[in-house]
Amino acid sequence: MTFTRRDVWTLTEDDPVVTAYADAVTALRARPASDPTSWAFQAAIHGTASSGRSPLWNQCRHGSWFFLSWHRMYLYYFEQIVRAQVIAQGGPADWALPYWNYDGEGSNSLPLAFRSAASPLFVRRRNPAVNAGALFPKAITSADFAMSRRVHTGASEFGGGIVQPGVLFWSETGRLEQTPHNDIHVAVGGQMGAPDTAALDPIFWLHHANIDRLWAQWQLSHPDPTEAGWLEQTFEFADASGATVSTATSKIVRIADLDYAYDTVPVASEASAGASA
Ligand code: C2O
Repeated sequence: MTFTRRDVWTLTEDDPVVTAYADAVTALRARPASDPTSWAFQAAIHGTASSGRSPLWNQCRHGSWFFLSWHRMYLYYFEQIVRAQVIAQGGPADWALPYWNYDGEGSNSLPLAFRSAASPLFVRRRNPAVNAGALFPKAITSADFAMSRRVHTGASEFGGGIVQPGVLFWSETGRLEQTPHNDIHVAVGGQMGAPDTAALDPIFWLHHANIDRLWAQWQLSHPDPTEAGWLEQTFEFADASGATVSTATSKIVRIADLDYAYDTVPVASEASAGASA
């Protein structure tokens, strides 16, 4: 089964994909932080000030060529956790994370479902202008420059520079990570403005689905790194049962090998798949 991630702007506020996500956010928030499938635990995988409670916590990779691969895995397992909850609450069995495409006229703002104070998707401490629907400038929403880069590896290239595996934050930020990724984090502000809290905001996951979509799009016509240091790097997450899983980057390079797709990204042809093998 393939789960299709769709542009949140093509879904109404009361679309079951959106309402099921809101209900699941509430359910996951009610679980104790010790539960790997809880909202707090999932956010702590990215970062938390209360360090040391789980070896899975504080593992996000930024400023290097692990940025895209680490976050693809992170979303992949989080989506399975949310889907299990969505199914448990009677929501769509084919639920997939929507993505937030902010690069367009009118869609360059926070999606409506995330703005109303009564919704579990609302976070008060965001930049108030953003919660009020402020339009972001093209300079921070556009992935055009990143998508124009022809090479994956390097700070001025698409995906970021080489770093040793254990380093969480490095200084070789790739162009997609910078714009729109970092710029949108800063613009949304509040929890989204800091790695220790970013994944507590429900919009985080739609932002990252968009970044992952852009990578998938870029991959159709550009090769990914071939170095063993990238392909063989493993990262640990929790699956929908709460069990720890360790995944090698080589397993997640092509989304055609995974169980999800994007509504606007063509399925990779044999030729482009070969280019990223
Ligand atoms: Cu690990 Cu958008 O950040």
